[in-house]
Amino acid sequence: MKKQKKLWGGRFNQKTHPLFEKFNSSIHIDYILAKYDILGSIAWSESLLECNVLTDEEQHQIQNALHQILQQVCDNPKIMVNSHVEDIHTWIEVQLIKRIGNLGKKLHTGRSRNDQVTTSLKLWCKYIVHDLITYLQKIQYTLILQAEISLKCIMPGYTHLQRAQPITFAFWCLAYVEMFNRDESRLNNLLYRLNVSPLGSGALSGTFCKINREKLALRLGFASSTRNSLDAVSDRDYVVELLSIASMSMMHLSRFSEDFIFFNSGEVNFIELSDFLTSGSSLMPQKKNPDALELIRGKTGSVYGSLISMLVILKGLPLSYNKDLQEDKSILFPAINNWIICLKVAILTIKTVKININACLKSACQGYSNATELTEYLVHKGVTFREAHYIVGKIVLEAIQKKCALEDLNISDFQRYHILFDCDVYEKLNVLNCINSKSSKGGVSFRQMLHHIMQIKKSLHANNI
Ligand code: ARG
Repeated sequence: MKKQKKLWGGRFNQKTHPLFEKFNSSIHIDYILAKYDILGSIAWSESLLECNVLTDEEQHQIQNALHQILQQVCDNPKIMVNSHVEDIHTWIEVQLIKRIGNLGKKLHTGRSRNDQVTTSLKLWCKYIVHDLITYLQKIQYTLILQAEISLKCIMPGYTHLQRAQPITFAFWCLAYVEMFNRDESRLNNLLYRLNVSPLGSGALSGTFCKINREKLALRLGFASSTRNSLDAVSDRDYVVELLSIASMSMMHLSRFSEDFIFFNSGEVNFIELSDFLTSGSSLMPQKKNPDALELIRGKTGSVYGSLISMLVILKGLPLSYNKDLQEDKSILFPAINNWIICLKVAILTIKTVKININACLKSACQGYSNATELTEYLVHKGVTFREAHYIVGKIVLEAIQKKCALEDLNISDFQRYHILFDCDVYEKLNVLNCINSKSSKGGVSFRQMLHHIMQIKKSLHANNI
């Protein structure tokens, strides 16, 4: 018989058209799975030994050859990319047969590329999720370090992009810690579903080999095996979930970028981005543009696109495996690469940013962001909140007309609005008081922030970050 470069030649009389050959091939994408596919094959060969399809000696030979192929792949991960075979599974089988001849043709007994590909992809996802968790912990840790440095750096907090109440730069950092912490917990949650092995599902209805699938799953580091093979070979929920977590996390990175772009603007000037993360204009010599952050914002759009693409591919698919599913990898891999590089760039940005403390404080003291404190002052003296709100509104109006801050008004000005105003009102209006009065859980007071920092540090240290 002539040498086979395909796994399915027998039924065909004519050669495949070169255009289709190229169209059908996925090796330029799925070569990434080589290592996981080989590990899956080694575990499969052990199951074949246990159900007497292979002898000890045969399994040994297969395993040795697979280890050699693994070594070859580790030395040169792209070795197979120009090999003109259909996919990574084919390439590995061709390599195996090259090394051990006809015995290599036994490995695929009872197995299909349908259960094989989703097993390899799940193993890859498990590996990358652990990596992603580490990056998410690193960004939290970087934000925590920045929060410690800028604990007392007072700046305005915004709603509607209008100065609302004073906060600190640290408080802003800690808000993003919460977002990345939730992304991390979503990934941990996904690991439960990634931990179920589809290997042994065959093409769609199970395998004729009498293997112990639980044992096979454990051998590959999964916690258990799938319960229905029809579902198992066509399930790509985990790809959608990973892309959905990526999209959510990119949304956080994008909001982070947008905040920083605003803080860095000439109009606001709260921060200065490092030279090595910004670029100039070919025409305007004075420019220093926040390109890195704009790219994070832009790439968020592409990651959202990946999520939608995957959902649309799955939407009309009949059970079980269909070749449409091959597209999953060319959607997933670049999206995850984008997410990782954006996390790395964001970490570097936070590490190297210079905070302009004076501009932050000056801005926080303007814009009447201590007006809420004035309301609280009256409420403490027994005025109802609604009435206090109205009175303070009038006082703010007067201050705007006089072009001064609330604390610049005379006590007699205050007393024209309510008899209960006294000289202690100035202490209340002090920006530090505005910060430290928010002393219950989640508030911006220094004590609360230190408590939050301590909690996060503890959980990160528990993970050795
Ligand atoms: N390259 C294929 C993929 O990525 C592997 C599975 C092919 N199975 C099949 N029955 N054609 O989905």
